[in-house]
Amino acid sequence: MGKVERVATNIPGFDKMIDGGFVKNSLNLVSGGPGTGKTIFAMQFLLEGVKVGQKGLFISFEEEFDNLMGDAMVFGWDFRKLEKQEKCFFFTCKPMEEPNLQMKISEIIKGNKITRVVIDSISVFAMMFKEDAYRIRKEFYKLADFLKKMGCTVLLTSEIPGEAPLDISSGGGSLSRDGIIEFIADSIITVHNSGIGGEGDRAIRVLKMRRTDHTKGPVPMNITKKGMQILD
Ligand SMILES: Nc1ncnc2c1ncn2[C@@H]1O[C@H](COP(=O)(O)OP(=O)(O)O)[C@@H](O)[C@H]1O
Ligand SMILES: [Mg+2]
Repeated sequence: MGKVERVATNIPGFDKMIDGGFVKNSLNLVSGGPGTGKTIFAMQFLLEGVKVGQKGLFISFEEEFDNLMGDAMVFGWDFRKLEKQEKCFFFTCKPMEEPNLQMKISEIIKGNKITRVVIDSISVFAMMFKEDAYRIRKEFYKLADFLKKMGCTVLLTSEIPGEAPLDISSGGGSLSRDGIIEFIADSIITVHNSGIGGEGDRAIRVLKMRRTDHTKGPVPMNITKKGMQILD
């Protein structure tokens, strides 16, 4: 069997849980309730990429650009500077108002040789297609396929109301509002902010990751002024 090529997230402590990093050109979903650290995880993934010479693209369908920049600056992450230096790019729009979404995104990726892409969050993208589950699935596949073919390793966030379920095998709970993206993603990571973390109040868990011998249970995690850190 060939060795799986990986993209280290370099989020402190996380790569140890996933055999060294995300599978190259894979689609990874970070799912959790509000305030659990999804956006922080996503920003760190891009920031650490820049540090090793991999350019990033942050796609947002909801958060105002200024808010996003402000949140990042609290951690000392100067994305405006990185954007000026053409190391990290931002694309915000309301999907309904952007008919050529895929073309626009593909131009940015190609034009700048981007290899790490974040979509924060994917929930709004699904809302574009209202309640049409067939259409949502089709559009997700299209998006996933297109980003992978462009040579990108992708991180999607998905916000769910309340706490992420600890068991999805029994059909107990959904990991996204649409209940579809979790079946398309190559990996699912859940972030939690109460109770099960033990040491801290937070935890992170890898529910599935293709081609990866990953840690199974929830692992305590912290968010400090330096960002997210997985505790041992
Ligand atoms: N400087 C900080 N120190 C510690 N925790 C922080 C700091 N800034 C934000 N947080 C925590 O991170 C949470 C926001 O994380 P975020 O990634 O935006 O959540 P979401 O999952 O909603 O995207 C806040 O609710 C707060 O608990
Ligand atoms: Mg967020």
